[in-house]
Amino acid sequence: MPASEEITNSTLYHETKLGRVYLGDSLCTLTERLTPRSVDLIVTSPPFGLVRKKDYGNVDSSEYVEWFRSFGKLFHRILKPSGSLVIDIGGAWIPGQPTRSLYHFELLLMLCRECKFHLAQELFWWNPAKLPTPAEWVTVRRIRVKDAINCVWWLSPTPWPKASNRRVLAPYSDAMRGLLKNGYRAKLRPSGHDISDKFAVNNGAAIPPNLIAVAHTESNSYYQRYCKEQGIKPHPARFPAELPEFFIRMLTDPRDLVVDPFAGSCVTGEVAERLGRRWLCAELREDYLKGAVGRFKRPPDVDSKSGKKASNDAFYKVFHPSACWNGNGEPPLPRDGGKTRARARKRAARGPKAKEP
Ligand SMILES: C[S@@+](CC[C@H](N)C(=O)[O-])C[C@H]1O[C@@H](n2cnc3c(N)ncnc32)[C@H](O)[C@@H]1O
Repeated sequence: MPASEEITNSTLYHETKLGRVYLGDSLCTLTERLTPRSVDLIVTSPPFGLVRKKDYGNVDSSEYVEWFRSFGKLFHRILKPSGSLVIDIGGAWIPGQPTRSLYHFELLLMLCRECKFHLAQELFWWNPAKLPTPAEWVTVRRIRVKDAINCVWWLSPTPWPKASNRRVLAPYSDAMRGLLKNGYRAKLRPSGHDISDKFAVNNGAAIPPNLIAVAHTESNSYYQRYCKEQGIKPHPARFPAELPEFFIRMLTDPRDLVVDPFAGSCVTGEVAERLGRRWLCAELREDYLKGAVGRFKRPPDVDSKSGKKASNDAFYKVFHPSACWNGNGEPPLPRDGGKTRARARKRAARGPKAKEP
């Protein structure tokens, strides 16, 4: 694995009709290859500031903001005034206690206060398929819930990045479809919102909320099959294609330039290519790029002989929060906040064991 400081120049690793993948430190690649105010969208998932290191070079959460500062300044310089920076970032736990690090909020503050970005909106990626970790707090002591959300900071060099939510509309809910069919009486809501008769106009689809629900359940994608065939280890921390797709659709036009400076397996490049945007991906590790190039060898989604679309079987069911709690037979909440494990608490409540005679 090449360490960041050993690389002085970036190398062109792969090229397609619309994009380029570079091997090297993105600070170097982006400085060398891009001119100021030339990029429409940077959409990326940097290494998170994790407590337990994964094998793709995470930075400690306490040093994270310092590490990110030069990237933040560079990103601001290369973005057009109408451009956007979208950062998908997961939270971290403080070692040894059931509380959370604030590093991703500190990152946001640094990017806005020092690098002069505006916070266009904070969004959240909810992965309903996320495993319940850390086990100690979630499945052993059961004092925290599953951490299934990543923050997605949408930032912009000016308060007015180009954007349209019309590109990311969602199907109407059953309730809304019912209202549209059966009619709606205009009235003032108890909250003070004046719901006019315009509410009942069928616009074809609903404006999505800032919660993007995508289950990360990829298990047999073309990328994975390619890696398996070639004996390559797939990237361990990919984001689902739906995430960059949401922002590329909403924030760019065809032929705009999309950049991912922490490209990993180049999901962003693959989506940008499919959507007809120009793109540039930079990645530090060649072993990740070996698998990434497989994305650009993928046959078209529609079979030219049968005309059939490749199936997409990654669906999921969203449950109402608390749907499985019946409130009966539950012990009261631990008064010490879970500081001691349940078994130790029970033992303490029973008192000292009587000595054998
Ligand atoms: C969370 S992963 C990104 C995964 C990617 N979104 C995907 O779906 O495949 C972060 C990546 O950033 C890369 N990286 C870390 N520092 C870098 C740097 N200075 N320049 C380029 N890439 C870097 C890591 O090697 C890692 O692959």
